[in-house]
Amino acid sequence: MILVTGGAGFIGANFVLDWLRASDEPVLNLDALTYAGNLENLAALQGDGRHVFVHGDICDRALIDRLFAEHRPRAVVHFAAESHVDRSIHGPGDFVRTNVEGTFTLLEAARGYWSTLEGEEKAAFRFLHVSTDEVYGSLGPNDPPFAETKAFEPNSPYSASKAASDHHVRAWHHTYGLPVLTTNCSNNYGPYQFPEKLIPLMIANALAGKALPVYGDGRNVRDWLYVGDHCAAIREVLARGRLGETYNVGGWNEKPNLEIVHTVCALLDELRPDAAGPHARLITYVADRPGHDRRYAIDARKIERELGWRPAETFETGIRKTIAWYLANQDWVAHVQSGSYREWVERNYGERRA
Ligand code: NAD
Ligand code: TYD
Repeated sequence: MILVTGGAGFIGANFVLDWLRASDEPVLNLDALTYAGNLENLAALQGDGRHVFVHGDICDRALIDRLFAEHRPRAVVHFAAESHVDRSIHGPGDFVRTNVEGTFTLLEAARGYWSTLEGEEKAAFRFLHVSTDEVYGSLGPNDPPFAETKAFEPNSPYSASKAASDHHVRAWHHTYGLPVLTTNCSNNYGPYQFPEKLIPLMIANALAGKALPVYGDGRNVRDWLYVGDHCAAIREVLARGRLGETYNVGGWNEKPNLEIVHTVCALLDELRPDAAGPHARLITYVADRPGHDRRYAIDARKIERELGWRPAETFETGIRKTIAWYLANQDWVAHVQSGSYREWVERNYGERRA
């Protein structure tokens, strides 16, 4: 079996669902169920013996040692993290704890387990660390996209904590020989994304007739990748990636935020028209995010050259699927918009009023 951490979150849940659609290899899913973790994401697996869920923390060394000993996973796919830049600005401590200390704890436990293996079992073991393009910092308008050789220049508490975790993963390979792989991916979107991130927030607010808060001038650029394509890239790297290497994963799809918001509005106008007028009337410029990175772009040629991976979705097909999913899953959205979600919205947006 494989051990997945953070498999009740957005990308982790998509990964687990896709994995078990394509294979019968069981998944041991370790997740602390923070505000971002949600067992409803995995409802389709209820009663499925191939999915073993453990409610626990990646900082809990004794628990992880026990899981390795009992389940003897052949690989770790490590998603668990605090993942939202705005939350990292308000409370960086949780990011250092989970992203740095948690990754360290997992590396140490994996190293302890791997050192007990022999022969083929030892040679086949993998530790795949899922990371972000944000570790590379911010690009100017004419800079080349991030290659794997680009120096790390993280600018937010989130990206600094992920960069630190990437460095630990690298060091555990060079120093101890742990068979690691790292992926650095651009912004994902798709089903089950928590409505604090740009695309699901805009969909949820537009459907509720609420303001669509665009930070700064709306011209910050991100590269967007459909989550299913990210999961496919991770499966390729796990199966055939070269040990100790990092692979950048992206959609060849750079867009300014304002264009993303207008696309969401236009699709909602088509699929769920609002009698009050076009959804774009709700766009509201609000105070910028402190330290807001201007542009991210990914050079994804290495993973294509070595592993033959390319995104299957275009932005047009992926965003249409995503909006259709949110329209069909309004209950899911309502359930995650709990009291603590409303507190977060007030905390993040209350102080930014246009
Ligand atoms: P998410 O916030 O939706 O999910 C994170 C999951 O980790 C949740 O289920 C949460 O309960 C769990 N978790 C948090 N702290 C934990 C702890 N201490 N122990 C165990 N579980 C814990 O995040 P996501 O968007 O699915 O991102 C997953 C990974 O992919 C992260 O490592 C993130 O840095 C990386 N990534 C995300 C994106 C993106 O656009 N979302 C892009 C590139 C890379
Ligand atoms: P986000 O989804 O938080 O991802 P990241 O910051 O990790 O790239 O934000 C994507 C972009 O959208 C980023 O430039 C910030 C911007 N943004 C807004 O303009 N308004 C919002 O309410 C949010 C959440 C993000």
